[in-house]
Amino acid sequence: MKIGTPLASNATKVLMLGGGELGKEVIIELQRLGVETIVCDRYEGAPAMQVAHRSYVFDMLDGEKIRHCLDTEEPDLIVPEIEAINTSVLADYKQNLVPSYKAISLTMNREGIREQAVDLNLRVSGYQFAHSLSELESAVAAVGYPCVVKPIMSSSGKGQSVIRGDQDIQTAWSHSQEDGRVTDCKVIIEEFIEFDYELTLLTIRHRDGISFCSPIRHLQIDGDYRYSWQPADCNATVLAECQRMAEAIVTELTSVPDDGIGYGVFGVELFVRGDTVYFSEISPRPHDTGLVTLVSQEQSEFALHAKAILGLPITGTQVLTPGASAALVLSSENENPFAYDIAEIVQAGCEVRLFGKPTIIGKRRMGVVLATNDDPIRALIDATIGAEKLRQFQE
Ligand SMILES: Nc1ncnc2c1ncn2[C@@H]1O[C@H](COP(=O)(O)OP(=O)(O)OP(=O)(O)O)[C@@H](O)[C@H]1O
Ligand SMILES: [Mg+2]
Repeated sequence: MKIGTPLASNATKVLMLGGGELGKEVIIELQRLGVETIVCDRYEGAPAMQVAHRSYVFDMLDGEKIRHCLDTEEPDLIVPEIEAINTSVLADYKQNLVPSYKAISLTMNREGIREQAVDLNLRVSGYQFAHSLSELESAVAAVGYPCVVKPIMSSSGKGQSVIRGDQDIQTAWSHSQEDGRVTDCKVIIEEFIEFDYELTLLTIRHRDGISFCSPIRHLQIDGDYRYSWQPADCNATVLAECQRMAEAIVTELTSVPDDGIGYGVFGVELFVRGDTVYFSEISPRPHDTGLVTLVSQEQSEFALHAKAILGLPITGTQVLTPGASAALVLSSENENPFAYDIAEIVQAGCEVRLFGKPTIIGKRRMGVVLATNDDPIRALIDATIGAEKLRQFQE
């Protein structure tokens, strides 16, 4: 694809559905390449909107509004940035869809992607589905304690809890129904894997095949990413198994003819215990734990995504300097805008990315602190100290 001139009649237009912090970085990369960018989200001033040429505000679950916007803009590429999208409408726009209709529709629902993984013989935790409290009780009995309950339509740990005994079942059910993406939601019950560590393997499907970044390690709190570092210290057997699984699922999600453009970055989430690797889930887009690549790789996951979807060759996927990221998660009781005092952290050699989200509703990821060091664990400590200082400055 040749890149036209933005805002001219031959512009190469990318339209993003959802405009969070990960999308913001992708838009910045597309802007650098002279792409015309349009961002849609449910609220004014979403991070990616702030760096795009134009934006639209509407609910991404509203299929008619999506259709109207796509018909008005006629973008060359449609990039879903969140899972909570009315995907059925996108079936009519497959030829422009990133990365593919199959990838977008299966990953928005834990049931779809789990069954796909099982079809491919990827090792997964034991699991059951349930659609009511009584089904949950039988499912828990089948999976055993401890187990993890998650609404099939949810992300960032929302509605998720660990069941350790009979006494937790009722609470887990209520939580799954109150905090998921939709009401009356089916849940998955997964065997709790006592993993040694978990990884994200950024996998890029591009015009010349598949490439991998160095694995990223991360720590999650309440099912939500807080810290990540790269490269992860894992042995060759584990790495080979991670890559085998990632290649199998990414290939499967992108190989249906006429189902999308077929290119892009995927975040493959894996659990590792000894030399055994479990597939957990996959994002058909850059991954939040991959924010570390803003400092650790020659090309960040966002630059790689921008290039892959434009059909460009992919280089610079490896770690240049080991690095780490720590999410800046803040909470607030009111809607007053924040001011951030970052001088001391920058002075200490860290990078800070503030997402520019207009308000905090409850608890929200507002930025990330990044650090590099020959030792990624040292970088992790520096990033963590930076994020903690920044958090305390707000109090
Ligand atoms: N079966 C499991 N066994 C052990 N830990 C688990 C299991 N499932 C999830 N977890 C823990 O919870 C985290 C979040 O789970 P998962 O990725 O399925 O949720 P999510 O809501 O999709 O989160 P995100 O959108 O941030 O990826 C995992 O990264 C892992 O730390
Ligand atoms: Mg996850």
